[in-house]
Amino acid sequence: MRPTALARPSSSGAAAAPPRRDSASRPILVRSRLALPRRAAGLPAAAPSATSPPPPTEEVRHGHTLRGRENMTSTAEGAGAAPQWGFFSPRPCGPPQLNLPSIIHIHPQASTSSPSPTSRAWTVPDWAAAFESCTAEHAYWPEVEGTIPPALVGTLFRNGPGRFERGGARYAHMLDGDGLVARWAFLPPGEEARGRVHFTSRFVRTQELAAEEYAGRVLFRSTFGTAKPGGPLANAFDMKLKNPANTHVIAWGGRLLALWEAGPPHELDPATLATRPSPATLGRLVSPGSAPSTTGSASLDAALGLGSALTAHPHVAPPPRCVRAGWEGEGGDAAADPVAGRRLVTWAWRSQLRLGGRAGLTPDLHVEVAEFDGGWARVGTARLTLPGAAFNPHDAAVSLGSVIFFQTATSFNPAPYIFGFSGPAQCVHIDGQADMLVHVLPRPATSGGEKGWQGARGPAAAAAADATTQPATATLAAEEASFLLHHANAFEVPGSRGRRLAVWSSGWDPAALAALAASKGGMLGSWSVVLAGSFDAVPYSTLMQHEIDLDAGTVSRSVLYDATAAEHPKINPAYAGRPTRFVWFTAAAPGANPPGVSGPPQAIMKLDTLTGGTEAWVPGPRVFTEEVVFVPTGGLAGPGGAAEDDGWLLAMTFDAATKTSSLVILDAADVGAGPVAKVKLTHAIPHGLHGDWTDVVYGPGSEVAYAPSDAEE
Ligand SMILES: [Fe+2]
Repeated sequence: MRPTALARPSSSGAAAAPPRRDSASRPILVRSRLALPRRAAGLPAAAPSATSPPPPTEEVRHGHTLRGRENMTSTAEGAGAAPQWGFFSPRPCGPPQLNLPSIIHIHPQASTSSPSPTSRAWTVPDWAAAFESCTAEHAYWPEVEGTIPPALVGTLFRNGPGRFERGGARYAHMLDGDGLVARWAFLPPGEEARGRVHFTSRFVRTQELAAEEYAGRVLFRSTFGTAKPGGPLANAFDMKLKNPANTHVIAWGGRLLALWEAGPPHELDPATLATRPSPATLGRLVSPGSAPSTTGSASLDAALGLGSALTAHPHVAPPPRCVRAGWEGEGGDAAADPVAGRRLVTWAWRSQLRLGGRAGLTPDLHVEVAEFDGGWARVGTARLTLPGAAFNPHDAAVSLGSVIFFQTATSFNPAPYIFGFSGPAQCVHIDGQADMLVHVLPRPATSGGEKGWQGARGPAAAAAADATTQPATATLAAEEASFLLHHANAFEVPGSRGRRLAVWSSGWDPAALAALAASKGGMLGSWSVVLAGSFDAVPYSTLMQHEIDLDAGTVSRSVLYDATAAEHPKINPAYAGRPTRFVWFTAAAPGANPPGVSGPPQAIMKLDTLTGGTEAWVPGPRVFTEEVVFVPTGGLAGPGGAAEDDGWLLAMTFDAATKTSSLVILDAADVGAGPVAKVKLTHAIPHGLHGDWTDVVYGPGSEVAYAPSDAEE
């Protein structure tokens, strides 16, 4: 018997699917209960408990202030931003292209022909309160309400912006905020000293953060417009950008990396969350520098101090198969262990300007995909150039055979950045009309063994490496202008021998993107606009599937979910790269806004793509939800192991009524039942971005030794 839920969902969250934006008349579906196999043997069997666990205990480091001349300050002005997930914009969109029933089981969701507006359940001050700066770092045993599943043993790491001002100056955008890593250590039952879960939070002490702490003022420019005091004259021609290390944190091979996609990663001690002084290079995959760009000459790059960056969205994937060899029964490598052989698939990037285009200069983006085994040995390398790309795609999809990049047409006018008027992200403009390009890069099946960028070690070496590691890349025009934000899964369509791929993503569909382009607003909206109470300026994000037919050369899109603004889709990671049925995500509260109108995330949802049914947990009108991290109860065995929805969802929430954050644990198979446990902090953690789970326990009493392994650094 599994632990009972703490609370039932609100009426609006009981998952009668809310109206879709398209107007087709379809039956209204209600919450679906699934007939999949239940939890496998050996899974949590704790009896429900209404009793409270041991009370919270001491705050080991509560109230700790940062060194330097300036103490951290809290301000009510740290208000809601136009965040990266893109929940916004009441743009009515046209009917979706439904063009892939032959691939999978996508059922349309509920619809009404005349959706009626509903009152929103959130207030601007509530949402703004989720972005107040953190005033302290913490380490303590929080109170636990409910019962932690006994089998849930390991560590959850989360990252996100934690501070939004310096020296009395507000940052221009929440995404410029200083990275704050939170750690939730789940101890084995019976070994707890004062509780099952221990919480720790620490800022990622980059060199820039340390310098600004000491100076007590902003010293660096930032990507989304934060500038040094003194106006354009003080910022012009200073191309150095601060690395906030605020986007993601991954635990892999005994190392913990805080990620930001426009710079190198920062390595943390997983036992203490202390930051190593210098950025990590991952065996020279990444080069620290003032900007991720290149002149094409390694020596000139070195003279100018140019570097490269690592994506904030690496993926953990099974070992690769060639495109024509599927996972099961189609000639795959049967000798490979799908669990132990898992790889970290990541990529470094840098841009290069060339002559051409309307502005006279056109950027190209050079990507180097690297695959690492569990011991951080690089076991594969592949390269790709995205012509005309003004910036790195925020995410890429990884299937068993391919890494897939979706490139939306953009333009980049660097003049306002160069002359000190804005950040580089504010100089990127969406085309809104041109076709999206889809690049299907075969995953390297063998080890290239080389390091460094193409050209840096000579063309002969690069050509030799490419001959063994990189089959041809396919680039297709999607005949639509969409912008994809995050990818949940990519898999080969069964029976297609790898020639048809399906990708599940969140993003802005053509109507949302056209509205954004027409508004001539920044890609990620304006913090000030959201502060004023409007979410209209940021596009409405939905979940969609793209089918890529490599033989026909076509890309087609269909809707997975568009009834409310939705983001951060996740699957069971044990099923990564295989055909899946379920997807979990955060969303605006169903019914809280008219269809097509964005709002902040206030629900955690589960979608069954076979039936079209959804479940939602809505914690309350003043509570906001974050990305879920899926912890499979059956480990990473995947098919043949536990059922696809057999696992736990871990997500942070923020309650504006108490201005405190919590971690909730939900049964992935029964999201609508609400959390089985809630770990309650005594303070707030600002609304975060991404996180990662490891089965290794990093916390008090842990005997895990920290031993930096990158001898090259
Ligand atoms: Fe992201």
